[in-house]
Amino acid sequence: MKTIFITGGSTGIGAAAVRKFIAEGWNVGFMDINTQAAHALADELNCPERLLFTEGNTRTRSDIRRAVENTVARFGALNSVFANAGIHRCNTILDIADEELDLMIQTNIYGTVNTLREAIPPIIEAGGGSIVINASDQWFVGKPHSFAYGLTKGALGQITRSLAIDLGPKNIRVNAVCAGTIRTPLVDNLFVKFAEENHCSVEDYWRQENALYMRGSAGRPEEVAEVVYFLASDAAGFCTGSHYLVGGRLIIRKQGTGWEGPRPVPPACDTSPRFAKHATSSPAPRRQPSRRTGRVRRASGLRTEDAPPLSTPTSSALSASIRRHGDLNRPHRDLAIPNLKQARCILFREPLSSAPHC
Ligand SMILES: NC(=O)c1ccc[n+]([C@@H]2O[C@H](COP(=O)([O-])OP(=O)(O)OC[C@H]3O[C@@H](n4cnc5c(N)ncnc54)[C@H](O)[C@@H]3O)[C@@H](O)[C@H]2O)c1
Repeated sequence: MKTIFITGGSTGIGAAAVRKFIAEGWNVGFMDINTQAAHALADELNCPERLLFTEGNTRTRSDIRRAVENTVARFGALNSVFANAGIHRCNTILDIADEELDLMIQTNIYGTVNTLREAIPPIIEAGGGSIVINASDQWFVGKPHSFAYGLTKGALGQITRSLAIDLGPKNIRVNAVCAGTIRTPLVDNLFVKFAEENHCSVEDYWRQENALYMRGSAGRPEEVAEVVYFLASDAAGFCTGSHYLVGGRLIIRKQGTGWEGPRPVPPACDTSPRFAKHATSSPAPRRQPSRRTGRVRRASGLRTEDAPPLSTPTSSALSASIRRHGDLNRPHRDLAIPNLKQARCILFREPLSSAPHC
């Protein structure tokens, strides 16, 4: 029976990983600063013989040492580690305070490095095994207002490669899981803050976020845990030094339509009366005579070729302009968007073909 050590296992992706490994018959030692959620998870799983929680902070190396030692003492060996604990803050290089930069680096980089330094020796002792690092899709892309988070996750993406080289001869595989937006307390708390600042609901933000993804919804922690389990298990025997994107296609969208930092107020809760008024009274798209028949075709909706060109303004530019002008008509003209329907699609950040309101 194999044993894994997981940091940040009380909530979100870490908790989903704890559930997954327990369900697959592994022993799990996990560590977190959130003891209340940890005990709730332990009660839910009701599996004391294979689950061990140790309270601790990944920023403190002695806490990690204690948690790893507890895990090895209880289960006899350590085969894998999932370095998962991390935090998020919105900032740019221009506004980040020294304390916040330090907190991000201490938690996301040092916390992970501490975890690995304590977990690797027992894994070597066990004859090898696997390491999974929780990086982010920000290993692949830059996002606005994500200076410190991107910095730390970029670092984790890089050490995935160097560790894979150094630890390969010791029979240890090292991979990173790189998720897009996953609905966990980490993102919920962020959206609670945005919603409070903009006097609208968290669900407004989730609606906007969900629209960024191919299937119309962000990820679930269990979907990341499945990939983590695969990477940790022997089924991934030929996978090492790689970054596995669990990203619902967000990063392959054209630049400028992805995460836009502290969000503009979603139209639904911002200028909705004005928005609704102008949306319903929008002029019909201009009718063009067909070149073949000379007849004017009835405009029944947008087609693929109506999609805004790559240079069209982003949703946040349009939202900002609407707030500035107080209606949808002016910005739509200012920003050279061909028609109101396209303006609405840009606002909702949806492909024209899948936007029901277009
Ligand atoms: N949610 C997302 O959209 C997303 C996307 C990509 C990557 N990630 C990464 O996934 C990881 C888990 O985040 P989540 O989304 O599940 O959020 P979460 O807040 O639900 O989980 C993080 C867990 O780590 C714990 N933790 C935080 N700092 C700690 C510390 N110093 N010591 C010990 N425990 C600590 C928290 O108490 C919490 O239980 C993070 O590294 C995050 O950067 C999240």
